[in-house]
Amino acid sequence: MTEPVTYNMTENILYGEKMSIEVCGGNPVRGKVRIQGSKNAVLPMMAAALLCDEITVIENCPDISDVHAMAEVMEDIGGRVTYEDHCLTIDASALGNKSIEEKRVKEIRASVLLIGSMLARFGKVTIDYPGGCSIGSRPIDFHIKAFRKMGVVTTEEENYIRCESASALKGATIELEFPSVGATENIVLAAVLAEGVTWIQNAAREPEIVEFCHFLRTMGAKIKGEGTEHIIIQGVSRLHGVKWQLGADRIAFLTYAMMVAGCGGEAYLETDSDTPPKEITVLSRLGCQIRLGSKGIFIRQQSRPNPIPYICTRPYPGFPTDGQSLLMAVLCKSGGVSTIEEGIFENRFRMIQKLRKMGANIDYVSNRARITGVTKLHGAAVEADDLRSGAGLLIAAGMAEGVTTVYKEHFIHRGYEKVVEQMQNLGLTANYHKEE
Ligand code: UD1
Repeated sequence: MTEPVTYNMTENILYGEKMSIEVCGGNPVRGKVRIQGSKNAVLPMMAAALLCDEITVIENCPDISDVHAMAEVMEDIGGRVTYEDHCLTIDASALGNKSIEEKRVKEIRASVLLIGSMLARFGKVTIDYPGGCSIGSRPIDFHIKAFRKMGVVTTEEENYIRCESASALKGATIELEFPSVGATENIVLAAVLAEGVTWIQNAAREPEIVEFCHFLRTMGAKIKGEGTEHIIIQGVSRLHGVKWQLGADRIAFLTYAMMVAGCGGEAYLETDSDTPPKEITVLSRLGCQIRLGSKGIFIRQQSRPNPIPYICTRPYPGFPTDGQSLLMAVLCKSGGVSTIEEGIFENRFRMIQKLRKMGANIDYVSNRARITGVTKLHGAAVEADDLRSGAGLLIAAGMAEGVTTVYKEHFIHRGYEKVVEQMQNLGLTANYHKEE
């Protein structure tokens, strides 16, 4: 192993220092981690903070680069955002109607949610196309179709789209072709200040949408039905600033839980909640013992993980696509054959070639992967392709004997706060290294 270095989010991520993560694996975990606040809930809340001209405060906000990137986009358009000690403060009183540029949209996909907020606030917005993303094509056609139903006229140019409404946005009945998380959030953002009632049919039901709607209700919005496939929004004339305590990130929970499931051993995951995330069921299928505490979950794995004959990623309440790479890493050492079907994003299987490099036995055809468990994985030099494949590789690295170096770790910091320190809290040997 090379000499470890300390990690600083601002210097290492925002100003482009190249880092890698080195893990010396093969030992069981033992320790305790506190689960960070939810990435996928805070990003739409940040967009929602632009709907009013008062101050919004979000506590327990994770220190991850997606939050900082979203804050930079908001500052580009006149928002004032500060972050200190997990407290995010947003003042949108001086917001201007500036266009949202390509560089920003590519840096942070969730910036497309600013379309809904800007339409609600100014009745118009110009945004460069989000373009491709490393986990597959991620179009915004559902978002655009919905805005058109609300009276927005869209002009599509080669590189950007202009959305404009001559009068106030109008509530509408919108049936989504697929329960898209981003489209549901964007429609809600546009609808809370629209005239009349908006009814979203086939809405996404993810827990992050539920928390986001609670947050908006605290701001004064009138919303019903979140968590079901029908969300009904009665537009109001004004929203006000709030102070919000962000809930735990269920995918970060699943990530550290999968480290226990794959490496063996035991850990206490503190979530500050008395309701365990639904994803806990997959841990039982993998053979983990689970005990619920008052503010967390104790997980123990005493044997090789069980294989899972078949599992498919689906919109909530199905198994999350964001957990797929994490589960695949664990199944590499199961005592049998497992099948994973990826039902949402087509490019999530690029991690397979990295896992093979570590000794995994995986075949795949199209979106179906067959994982035959092996008794040992070994360390290798591997590269993250996206946020969750990076996390999957860290799990595999903990399970593998010898040293694994995970390159392109900046993807991992998009969604995980202090991931190396968290692995150390679990008793794993992990360190940051500066790339030459
Ligand atoms: C959100 C999550 C991401 C998660 C994903 C699926 C955030 C910040 N990100 O992403 O972590 O993996 O949900 O749970 O919350 N689609 C279209 N047209 C559209 C919109 C989506 O065809 O206009 C398709 C996508 O290509 C994809 C599927 O719908 O195949 C789901 O995408 P969506 O739910 O919108 O994902 P995101 O909101 O981008």
